[in-house]
Formats: sequence, C-alpha cells, structure tokens
Amino acid sequence: MHLSSRSAAFLCATAVAAMAQTVHPIGNIFKPRATPADSVYNISLLMLAVCAAIFVVVAGLLTFAIIRFRRRNADHGREPAQVYGSTRIEIAWTVLPILIVVVLSMATARTVIEVQNKRLPADTLKVTVIGHQWWWEYRYPEFGIVTANELHVPVSTVAKPRVTALRLESADVAHSFWIPQLAGKTDLIPGITNTMWIDPRQDGIFLGNCAEYCGTQHANMLLRVVVESPADFDKWVSAQKQPAMTYPGLERGRATLLSLSCVNCHTVTGTSAAGTFGPDLTHLMSRTTLGSGMIPNTPENLRAWMKDPQQIKKGNLMPNMQLNARELDEVVNYLSSLK
Ligand code: CUA
Repeated sequence: MHLSSRSAAFLCATAVAAMAQTVHPIGNIFKPRATPADSVYNISLLMLAVCAAIFVVVAGLLTFAIIRFRRRNADHGREPAQVYGSTRIEIAWTVLPILIVVVLSMATARTVIEVQNKRLPADTLKVTVIGHQWWWEYRYPEFGIVTANELHVPVSTVAKPRVTALRLESADVAHSFWIPQLAGKTDLIPGITNTMWIDPRQDGIFLGNCAEYCGTQHANMLLRVVVESPADFDKWVSAQKQPAMTYPGLERGRATLLSLSCVNCHTVTGTSAAGTFGPDLTHLMSRTTLGSGMIPNTPENLRAWMKDPQQIKKGNLMPNMQLNARELDEVVNYLSSLK
C-alpha cells in the first residue's frame, strides 16, 4: 500500500521534473538515441523481419492445411493420401533453418564486434560503474568525483562528438547495466571488468534497470543517465568536485552525523566520514532520487528513509540507526544542505 501511493507520488514528481528536463520513457529499444543502441535496433529489425516471415509461412501453411484437408462428408471417414518419407522435404526443412540460423548468428556477431571493437577517441570520458546490492556507484577518476545512482554524461553532437566509456565492476553479485535507448546490456561480474560505451545524441534523462537478478530489490535498482549540454556537464563536474559545505547553524547536525556509525559506510568529503560501503553523500541533494530511484529526494523522504530504511526498501543494507526525533532532525537538516 505504502509503495503504491509512494510510486504514484513519484510518477507525479517525475512528470513535474519532465517539464524541466525531458525524461525519456523507460525501455524503448525502438527509439535509439546513441550509436550502440542504433546497432541493437538495426539487428533487432532484421531478427523481427526474419521471424515474421517464418511466422507468416508456417501459419499460412497451417491454415491452408486446416482448410484444404478438413474432414468432409464425402471422405466417408477415410484419411487423405499420406506421405511417408520424402528426401526433398527433409533436406529443405533441415537446410533452410540452418541457413537462417547461420545468417542471423553472423549478422549478430558482426554487430557485437563492431560495437565492442570501436576505437574510442582520445577525449573519451571515463567512468567506472560499480554495481552494489541495490544501487549504482559512479566514479569519474579524471575528476576525482564519486556519486551514486545518477550518471551524468555530456551530449554527443555532430559538431562536438563526445563518447563516454564505462568500466563495469561489481562489489558483490552479478548485475547488468541496461539503458535500452543508449546501448545493449552488459553484465557487472564480481572479479571481472567489462566495458561498454555510449554517445547519447539527445539531452534529457534516460531510464533503465538492472537487468540481471541480484536479490530482493533487483527490481528497485533503477538507472538514470542525465545527458547534458557540455556547459551543464562542466558545471555539474565543478560543483561535484567541491568538498561539502557546512552552513551556519548546521554544525550540530554534522557533529551528530559524524558521531554515529554512518561514517563507516558513507563519505562526506571535507569531513571525517570516509566510508565507501554505501553511497557517497558529499552532494546528496544534487541527486533527484533516494534508494536508487525509489522515491524523490526530498527532506521529508530523507527523514523517512533515515528513520527506517527497511520500511522503504526492504532488505537494503542500511540498518535502522534508531535515531531519536532530535537526532533525526539535526542529521536530516545537515544532509539536506549537501547540494
Ligand atoms: Cu542489480 Cu539486479
């Protein structure tokens, strides 16, 4: 019940946000907005066309046989002439499917190789994506930025092409990174580093999901890619590079947070909180959602989350910190100032 009313509220909030920044609907591989997604789209059209032709031939023959050889009174219960063994028919229905499978396999292999072996330009933006149960960590090594759940990348235009290369790693179990409008899925496997790249040609927010079952909250491991103009992206980068500010009156809240075991899992740059187990909180309020896309990131929702994270996202690894009302107010006030 709670979740459905929350989801409804979130949909409204997303609709409001959509007025400010286009939110592209989730899951539509038929509206590709980046080169790797174009390749997936093209190969899917070929697959669909071949499958549609097979369907039409099989369904057509079946319909023909049903009508042509239906039981008639004139048959007097006798069966029509039966065919026992035909080398020509056997060869046809063995060779044709093999040819179809070979053609589709080769076309797929060519697409996979084209996407994987693409030479990326020297100015490619590099981001490390780390899958966690159940959130996404994004590291921008060249800028020293660490953030969570919302991947910011510059838009790629004809005048100024920009490619973003992703290094995919996992902190625990297998996950899969999938933004249908930008690229095919790639798994994040513990102990292995996979790579992929995107070059989104339209700005806005692109949505996706973790596409590999990874535990209780797999369905709530949502992906957001914020594609921005180069100027907006640079602005975001320079804001994210700043350490956390402490505004007057919030020192107490900061002290309370730093006195709790929150610091073992979370980082707030510029303070003694340097845990890396949970999402980096240095610029928490620059993100639009909490719990990896579950609820809008508002001070009220943040308070509800801090009060009992398990009630909002059951099974997530953040324990209930058992904060009293005063501590909750102080900590939430401080965290809400981390823009
Ligand atoms: Cu992560 Cu499913």
